[in-house]
Amino acid sequence: MTRSPNMGRWHSAWLCLLLAAAPAWGQESGQRATLRIRLPADARLLVEGQETKQTGANRTFTSPPLTPGKKFNYTFEWTYRKDGKPVTRTRTIYVRAGENKEVDLTKEDDQTSKKKEPEGAGRELDVPFVPTPQDVVDKMLEIASITEKDVLYDLGCGDGRIVITAAKKYGCKAVGFDLDPDRVQESRENVKAKEVEKLVTIEKKDLFDVDMKPASVVTLYLLPDVNAKLIPQLEQLKPGARIISHDFTIKGIEPKHTVPVTSKEDGQKHMIYVWIAPLKKK
Ligand SMILES: C[S@@+](CC[C@H](N)C(=O)[O-])C[C@H]1O[C@@H](n2cnc3c(N)ncnc32)[C@H](O)[C@@H]1O
Repeated sequence: MTRSPNMGRWHSAWLCLLLAAAPAWGQESGQRATLRIRLPADARLLVEGQETKQTGANRTFTSPPLTPGKKFNYTFEWTYRKDGKPVTRTRTIYVRAGENKEVDLTKEDDQTSKKKEPEGAGRELDVPFVPTPQDVVDKMLEIASITEKDVLYDLGCGDGRIVITAAKKYGCKAVGFDLDPDRVQESRENVKAKEVEKLVTIEKKDLFDVDMKPASVVTLYLLPDVNAKLIPQLEQLKPGARIISHDFTIKGIEPKHTVPVTSKEDGQKHMIYVWIAPLKKK
C-alpha cells in the first residue's frame, strides 16, 4: 500500500474531551494535543457531527494523551450568520501528540475551509479518507467467513486494502468503489502491485449509486449518517449476505455481532459490527 496505515482515525476519547473541555492555553502538554480555534463568535461548532459547548471567537481544546507519531483527524463543521443568512463550513483538522496548533476558521476564503471536493470527484465526499488498519481489515474479513464464492463490495474503498486483502487471502471477487479520483488511481495501482487484477475491480462511482444485488459481502468504513442513508440499497442484498462495518453502526438496525479489536498498528480499540441480510429494523 502506498499510504501509511497510521494516517489517523476518528478518536472517540479525544472527541469526548473536545466536546467538554476548555483548559488553559499553554499548559504542559506532554503527549496531549492542544488546539486553539478562532471562528466567528456566534458560530455553532460541531466536531464529528457532535455539538461542542464552548462559545465566543476563541475556543481551546486539549486532548488526553495521544499515541506518539500518529496522526488524528477530526471534521469540524461550523455555522454562522453572514448578511443575515446561515453559512456552514467544514474542515478536517489533523493533530499529533504533543502538538499545539492554532487554526483560524474565520478565513472562509481559504481553500481548505471549504467542503472538500476533490478534483474530478464531481461532488463533495461524504467521508474523508482514513484507512482501516491492516490487522482490523484481516479481522473484518475473518468474521465475514469469506470463501472464494463470495463477491465483496467495499463502499468507499480508499487505497483498496480491503478488496485486495479479500482477493489475496480468500480468492474471492471484490469490487471497490470510490468517488475520489486519487483514491481510485491509488487503489488501481495497489491492485496491480499485488497482482490481483483478475479478481479485483475498482470503479469510480458514488457509493449511493451502487447496485448491491451482486454482492454477498459489503464492507463499510463510513459514518453513521452515511450508513443510515445506505439502508435502501442494503435492503437489496440477497438473504445471507454479510455487512461488516468498521467502527460505525447502522442507525435503527441492531447488529447481529459486535466484535471489539485492539489494533497493534495504532494501539486503539476498534469496533466491528456485523449484520446478515435481510436487515431487521429495531
Ligand atoms: C474512511 S475511508 C475508508 C477506506 C477503506 N474502505 C478502508 O476501510 O480502509 C472512506 C472512503 O470513502 C470515500 N468516499 C467518500 N464519499 C464517497 C462517496 N459518496 N462515494 C464513494 N466513495 C466515497 C472516500 O474517498 C474514502 O476513500
